[in-house]
Amino acid sequence: MKVLITGGAGFIGSHLAIRLLKEGMHPVLIDHLSEELPHARKEYQLKQVFKTGPAAYYNCSFLEREKVSAIMEKEKPHAVVHLGGLAGVIPSLKDPSAYIKTNIDGTNNVLACAAEQNVKHVIFASSSSVYGEQAGVPLSEDMATGRVLSPYAASKAGAEALCHSYRHMYGFQMNILRFFTVYGPWGRPDMAFATFIRKLFHNEPITIYGQGTGRDYTYIDDIVSGILLTLKSKESDVYNLGSGRPVLMSEVVDEIKHHFPNVKLLQKEARIGDVTSTWADVSKARVKLGYDPAVSFKKGFEETVAWAKEHSDLI
Ligand SMILES: NC(=O)c1ccc[n+]([C@@H]2O[C@H](COP(=O)([O-])OP(=O)(O)OC[C@H]3O[C@@H](n4cnc5c(N)ncnc54)[C@H](O)[C@@H]3O)[C@@H](O)[C@H]2O)c1
Repeated sequence: MKVLITGGAGFIGSHLAIRLLKEGMHPVLIDHLSEELPHARKEYQLKQVFKTGPAAYYNCSFLEREKVSAIMEKEKPHAVVHLGGLAGVIPSLKDPSAYIKTNIDGTNNVLACAAEQNVKHVIFASSSSVYGEQAGVPLSEDMATGRVLSPYAASKAGAEALCHSYRHMYGFQMNILRFFTVYGPWGRPDMAFATFIRKLFHNEPITIYGQGTGRDYTYIDDIVSGILLTLKSKESDVYNLGSGRPVLMSEVVDEIKHHFPNVKLLQKEARIGDVTSTWADVSKARVKLGYDPAVSFKKGFEETVAWAKEHSDLI
């Protein structure tokens, strides 16, 4: 099966490409190597993909509609996994327009090209942020009301709506996957764990925002397994991909102390845009896809620290 991945040089995209190659599939990557991630990181991630097997790669923005359409026409992918986009809540507060352009206009482009080139299956990377603030309860797919807390979340909610409308107009199989805080080796450098580990390596204090917060942290391998199961599925639907278990910040701190006993902590107020907690109800994905998140937080964090120690120049 040939699968086109937008954002293929990114954290999730490169892991997905490697797994597809290992499963005998053919990934085609589109990524424009933007400045959001340092180039060295993306080049490293692409190298890992090419080391695993032959993948096609196009250094192109999915905002360039004609180029993307021409790539789809040439490659004729069975499926498109649209992972490319601007990720991250806090930077979206400063520059909402950039998020609207990349995440909404960009998704519109990818969907329009897929429709034009008769792609059979499109998978869109959405986010737990579409649930807004609903602390203390497992979030099931029908609980997204549109009352979100950040331009990032709004851009994902808007892009989801476009996905539904294109499915209605063109009839391709459409799956929306709502990822819950993904972490692991090669995790995005702007995300909490990479930031913590970078500071810990330099003996700097780490900052905890908000009190009593919890997150459904999902290990990268479980996310990639969820995408693979979705690629093999036949129905259009929206699925949560999380671990199904929120981890309290106090548990995160315990794990950090286990690996870095001299850690110094700073406590600050919660930031605007951040939700207090997330907790995925993954029962629909379990039943309909056979999704079974397997990596415990302890194990996943251990793998992440081990990777960071080996690649301290890239973290
Ligand atoms: N990592 C998480 O915790 C998480 C959680 C929820 C949702 N998501 C979503 O999953 C997707 C992948 O996330 P990630 O963590 O791998 O992020 P990432 O930043 O590592 O990857 C995104 C990739 O998209 C590429 N990109 C951005 N704009 C582009 C454009 N115009 N043309 C071509 N490529 C472009 C970037 O260069 C980058 O390599 C994103 O859509 C993100 O919003 C991620």
